[in-house]
Amino acid sequence: METWDAIRSRRNVRRYSDAHISPGDLERILEAGRRAPSSRNWQPWHFVVVSDRAQLTELAEVWRGAGHVRGSAATVALVAEASRSEQDRDRLHYDLGQATANMMLAAVDLGIGSGHSAVADQERAQRVLGFPAGYFCAYLIAFGYPDDRPLRPIISPNRRPFDDVVHWTTW
Ligand SMILES: Cc1cc2nc3c(=O)[nH]c(=O)nc-3n(C[C@H](O)[C@H](O)[C@H](O)COP(=O)(O)O)c2cc1C
Repeated sequence: METWDAIRSRRNVRRYSDAHISPGDLERILEAGRRAPSSRNWQPWHFVVVSDRAQLTELAEVWRGAGHVRGSAATVALVAEASRSEQDRDRLHYDLGQATANMMLAAVDLGIGSGHSAVADQERAQRVLGFPAGYFCAYLIAFGYPDDRPLRPIISPNRRPFDDVVHWTTW
C-alpha cells in the first residue's frame, strides 16, 4: 500500500475477525516500532506481545476502555521504565507515540487493524505481563483483521478543519 493510503486508511479498529496474524507480519509490525525515532535515540520501550486468549482476557480488564483487547489477534503492551523527571516523562510519551504510529501504519499496510488502550490498573498489567518492578505499562495496542470492513482510505475523516489546525508562518 502507498504510504499516503496507509495514513488515510488507519482508524481505530475495536472488533476483530478470528483470523490469526502470521508471525512474519507480527514481526514486521514490531520491527516498525523498534525503528521509530526517539529522543537522543534512547529507545525507552519494551514491547510485550500477547496472543494467548486467557492473557488477553485478563489484559482487557486493565482499563474500562480496553475491552477490545479481549478479541484481538495479538496485543502489544508498551512497557517502559518509570521515569523520574517530568521532562523524561514528557519525552517518553512523545517517543511511545511515535513507536505506536509506526506500528499502526505498518499494520495498515498489511490490512491489519489496530486500537489503542490506556492502562489504569498497573498491578494487573504487571501480573499478566510479568515486567519487572520499576517499570510500567504505558499503553496497549490491539491488532487484528477488522471484523466490519477492510481498511480503505477515509475520504472525510472526523477531524478539525485543516485551516483551524494549520497556521502558515505565524498563528
Ligand atoms: C493516547 C491515546 C489513548 C487512547 N486510549 C484509548 C482507550 O483507552 N480506549 C480506546 O478504545 N481508544 C483509545 N484511543 C483511541 C482514540 O479514541 C482514537 O484514536 C480517536 O478517537 C480517533 O479515532 P481514530 O483512531 O479512529 O481516527 C486512544 C488514542 C490515543 C492517541
